[in-house]
Amino acid sequence: GKGMFTYDPGFVSTASCESQITYIDGNNGILLHRGYPIEQLAEHSDYLETCYLLLYGELPTKAQKEEFVKTVTHHTMVHEQLAHFFNGFRRDSHPMAIMCGVVGALSAFYHDSLDITDDNNRQVAAFRLIAKMPTIAAMSYKFSIGQPFMYPDNSKGYAENFLHMMFGVPCEPSNVSPTLAKAMDRIFLLHADHEQNASTSTVRLAGSSGANPFACIAAGIAALWGPSHGGANEAVLEMLEEIGDVSRIDEFVARAKDKNDPFRLMGFGHRVYKNFDPRAKVMKEAADDVLAELGVDDPLLAVAKRLEEIALSDEYFISKKLYPNVDFYSGIILKAIGIPTSMFTVIFAVGRTVGWIAHWHEMISGSYRIGRPRQLYTGHTQRDYLPLDKR
Ligand code: SDX
Repeated sequence: GKGMFTYDPGFVSTASCESQITYIDGNNGILLHRGYPIEQLAEHSDYLETCYLLLYGELPTKAQKEEFVKTVTHHTMVHEQLAHFFNGFRRDSHPMAIMCGVVGALSAFYHDSLDITDDNNRQVAAFRLIAKMPTIAAMSYKFSIGQPFMYPDNSKGYAENFLHMMFGVPCEPSNVSPTLAKAMDRIFLLHADHEQNASTSTVRLAGSSGANPFACIAAGIAALWGPSHGGANEAVLEMLEEIGDVSRIDEFVARAKDKNDPFRLMGFGHRVYKNFDPRAKVMKEAADDVLAELGVDDPLLAVAKRLEEIALSDEYFISKKLYPNVDFYSGIILKAIGIPTSMFTVIFAVGRTVGWIAHWHEMISGSYRIGRPRQLYTGHTQRDYLPLDKR
């Protein structure tokens, strides 16, 4: 920028520069994937079709879609040796800890897709990551509850297969409700990409050094884990459970406004959206639909809706332009699907993998330089060393 420092492109981190994948207008609540509004994709598209759009820039033809789905489906199994990794973790490890470890370790298995200068290698790595994240996520869950890992079933759709691997057991026939599979697919779709957020910028910065895609995605998973980012969906459910009843909302709203209280309303606020987050609106409608279709009456949904009403009429939140974000309602749907709270951020990571890959691929396949964010130094000016007896 202008002012204190002259603008020198050589110094600006090239890892977070222009992109053609996603456009966000924070003041008007607009989110476009390759030009298509998220509301229309959520209503008419599905997750793998949106993956194709994010990766290749256009909606697929029928034949292109069938080929893409077939390729992803046939990459869902993981190397059998990978299962041994899980034995190194405690059973009560947080699934995100397991995801960071196991996904990073994929670079120890897939030597034939680590050469990022080869476009075919890049494509194969992309397919492997998009296809294997649900399998590894479900394995992380099964490991934590002491149940056997379930193999993917190629006759099932992407989200249906994930729920099969999460909740199926070898001794029972597999039956995944189409309602839950559709809700799961929409959750993945709504998390697919979001421009250059903290975790996507992490992936781009790691990728700008030439690191292999599996290591870059593991870096993205680590960045996503924080409660200010993807970890918020887990924190929202914990907050709603702590509030418990609409009668206690005012007490928590007061705490969120108290500068001396570190408590924040989880699921509210955003670095970019200073108006509503379009994904939160779609998620809120989906929450009504899923709970109605399942005949579930979750009192936490009433608490969430009342909390939103109160916050959106409160001067503090209005003045600071704090609106519900993508994480505010997603947890209620995930809970209705039967996903445990500890897996919420893992679900976010599974959905966001295609966005991380699309941004990584866009940068790697173009001309790029290593990212090097510059700092504003506010430390000591130069000074001489002091011998020990002079300190
Ligand atoms: C995601 O970037 C992305 O696109 C991320 C994401 C994606 O798809 O990748 O959209 C996913 O991470 C969504 C955000 C999930 N995080 C949360 O819900 C956690 C709660 N939210 C806050 O931590 C916060 O709003 C952030 C981190 C989301 C945004 O941080 P900002 O933009 O730096 O906002 P801020 O912290 O500077 O807040 C501005 C003001 C502050 O008050 P002042 O210092 O100006 O007096 O608003 C206050 C904050 O104290 N504030 C809140 C609040 N969020 C901000 N007060 C109460 N509750 C909140 N949730």
